[in-house]
Amino acid sequence: MIRVLGIETSCDETAASVVALDGTSAPEILSNIVLSQIEEHAAFGGVVPEIAARAHVEALDGIIEAALADSGMALGDIDAIAATAGPGLVGGLIVGLMTAKAIAAAGNKPLIAINHLEGHALTARLTDGLDFPYLLLLVSGGHTQIVAVRGVGDYQRWATTIDDALGEAFDKTAKMLGLPYPGGPNVEKAAASGNAARFAFPRPMKGSAQPDFSFSGLKTAVRQAATAIAPLSDEDVADICASFQAAVADALGDRVGRALNRFRQEFPGKADPALVVAGGVAANRTIKATLEALCVQAGFTFVAPPLKLCTDNAAMIAWAGIERLRAGMAEENAADFVPRSRW
Ligand code: KG4
Ligand code: ZN
Repeated sequence: MIRVLGIETSCDETAASVVALDGTSAPEILSNIVLSQIEEHAAFGGVVPEIAARAHVEALDGIIEAALADSGMALGDIDAIAATAGPGLVGGLIVGLMTAKAIAAAGNKPLIAINHLEGHALTARLTDGLDFPYLLLLVSGGHTQIVAVRGVGDYQRWATTIDDALGEAFDKTAKMLGLPYPGGPNVEKAAASGNAARFAFPRPMKGSAQPDFSFSGLKTAVRQAATAIAPLSDEDVADICASFQAAVADALGDRVGRALNRFRQEFPGKADPALVVAGGVAANRTIKATLEALCVQAGFTFVAPPLKLCTDNAAMIAWAGIERLRAGMAEENAADFVPRSRW
């Protein structure tokens, strides 16, 4: 039996979790505590690094205590500590990693430094027991990537955004239209009553042989449309949101479709290939439905882990720690590990 305490502080969630694995059954999430700072940042329309770092300092000890209490474990029962060491906002990373180092040193336990993206990449093995290789689409406020997940520590990025992250595009669009932060859920809500055919927004990169994403041109088109018809009625806002969402889903489908084809070519022997979606934008039903249809058509299994585990959380960090321990790839000297804002 391995039990790992995970700590995540790379952005605006303060999170701790205990995950256990015995050799025979599926892994078990014994606790998973996530404290969102959304309200503290809402007035600023985005995450403010200084506020985030302070909030992590104030909350982290209590969150770790709660995660241990919830799991029914004492610190002595824990085999290792896994903490996000990057990429992310450096203030938060320092708080999380230093706390993890202190706990590990005091309890004489190994410390495993985890790349946040590896946490997202391996989540589908925690939730769905997927076998390597599989394809991951990560769409959050900070990331828009397609990654071939080939093994523990073996990730190949096939596409990334050349400008805005997709969640960022949702958030900026919301802001332009006067919708509250975080924008994604509010754009989706407004889009529900809108006419997606009213505005012919561009589908950035659609049909391009280059694999990457781009959303800034779409954002500009939204701004121009909004400026042209201002002041906006509720109906205008709904129509812009619906048209924006349709453009995003269409562009995303084109990019992901290419990646599914590439996956077939690179892993011809892989039976039952899968596409995993992760990140906050994966909550969007229009986007999800588009990707699901694409997978059905291409013969891929569509895997969408529960939202709580594919937005930022510490269970994915604890799980990545377990994967690294099992693979003999736990960082040798993580006590000396310096947080990396870019990684
Ligand atoms: O993974 P996540 O919770 O964390 C960070 O990136 O930190 O993703 C948050 C992003 C935000 O940009 C938010 O607007 C977007 O995910 N998002 C959505 C929806 N729910 C959250 N975007 C579109 N539709 C949604 N329903
Ligand atoms: Zn994340």
